[in-house]
Amino acid sequence: MPENICIRNLNNFTGKSVALSGWVWNVRGSGKVQFLQFRDGTGFVQVVAGASDISPEEFETLRRLGQESSVKVEGKVVENAKALIGVEIIASKIELVSDSKNYPISPKEHGTDFLMDSRHLWLRSPRQQAILRIRHRIAKSIRNYFDELDFTLIDAPIFTPNECEGSSTLFSTDYFGENAYLSQSGQLYMEAACMAFGKAYCFGPTFRAENSNTRRHLTEFWMVEPEAAYMDLEGDMELAEGLIRKIVSDVLETNKNELILIERNLKPLQAMAKAEKFPRITYTQAVQILTDAGENFEWGNDFGGAHETIICSHFNLPVIVHGYPASIKPFYMKLEADLKTVKNMDILAPEGYGEIVGGGERESDLEKLRNRMAEQKLNEKDYEWYLDLLRYGSVPHAGFGLGLERAVSWICGLPHVRETGAFPRLPKRLRP
Ligand code: 4AD
Ligand code: MG
Repeated sequence: MPENICIRNLNNFTGKSVALSGWVWNVRGSGKVQFLQFRDGTGFVQVVAGASDISPEEFETLRRLGQESSVKVEGKVVENAKALIGVEIIASKIELVSDSKNYPISPKEHGTDFLMDSRHLWLRSPRQQAILRIRHRIAKSIRNYFDELDFTLIDAPIFTPNECEGSSTLFSTDYFGENAYLSQSGQLYMEAACMAFGKAYCFGPTFRAENSNTRRHLTEFWMVEPEAAYMDLEGDMELAEGLIRKIVSDVLETNKNELILIERNLKPLQAMAKAEKFPRITYTQAVQILTDAGENFEWGNDFGGAHETIICSHFNLPVIVHGYPASIKPFYMKLEADLKTVKNMDILAPEGYGEIVGGGERESDLEKLRNRMAEQKLNEKDYEWYLDLLRYGSVPHAGFGLGLERAVSWICGLPHVRETGAFPRLPKRLRP
């Protein structure tokens, strides 16, 4: 019996007989020879079957195989310089496991709505697999980065009794007769965790009931949120910058084939992995960029997606924008001495992608925080436990949130965030 191996490792087996289990991507050929494009989940390989190499019954079966039929193949691995993976298989045996007729996604072009409706099948396509493999790599890099820096992973709850990022984007649900919300951010819990562990992070799903049909907004997305005690805004920026650099260099190192397959321009990513420091500008300077670009933008307003695109297009690297007006930011952000701006930062990805990170230093003075809560009409009673963090040994601390899907979208160079997850949730998409 030849060894059962996967396509990813095939080029270590040149000259050997192997067995593969997988699915048919495509079959074409003549009465003399058939070319089977075969996939097993780890990659794609061409299987060449001559009429005299396999039995007449097997040859007939092969000719009639529909796309996505499941099959087992045995054969010899031979070099083929033209193949993406450098080898192909000369078949000696083909076994049908289960038939597939009229597979709905043919190699021809389909509309996005149709493909999104068929997401459970679309995942089998090479491009979708490449993107999701890059997502996997990014998630792994994120964990490695914080683990190596001695952050403790603390999982934040998903059911929460109150808001973190403003009431307008809460999904509410009945919690045994009480109102509960799906978490918008684990931050407040990470602030508690960093007072216990020094450095903590959570990495999980978060929810926003934002009816925004843009290329950047999901209603459910994954966010990594580190939080560290005794860290200031400067330390926070360095931590986030290091994370982005690590993610990009890891993907360049381990997923070059996937990046090439999805036709990502590697140059901007390579430049970024090498860059010494990301540019930093204040909110006020960002407003100036908009004004210079002919935008009618007033100091004090929040940037929309289109504004971010203009600002980040000024730079070849991710740009850190800090010091936003306090009036448009949540209660927990630390006020600057001018009492008008806060010690926050957003990181805008280049190539028009816009915000991928939001964070900053937190208010650590109880009275100032109380004033901010009163201004924003938040009920102190709902936040008693959070106020305890400032009552008992409060220290300066900071953190941020990086949206996984926004990062994947930028690193893969995608036109829309919907392809960055296996089963994305958008305002107009709850299925499959
Ligand atoms: O800027 P945001 O709202 O910040 C927070 O939630 C903070 N509590 C994080 C913290 O400091 N611990 O969201 C952080 C990031 C954004 O920069 C973006 O990458 C992503 O989360 N994000 C979204 N991604 C996809 N779809 C949406 N609707 C998103 N909203 C935010
Ligand atoms: Mg933000």
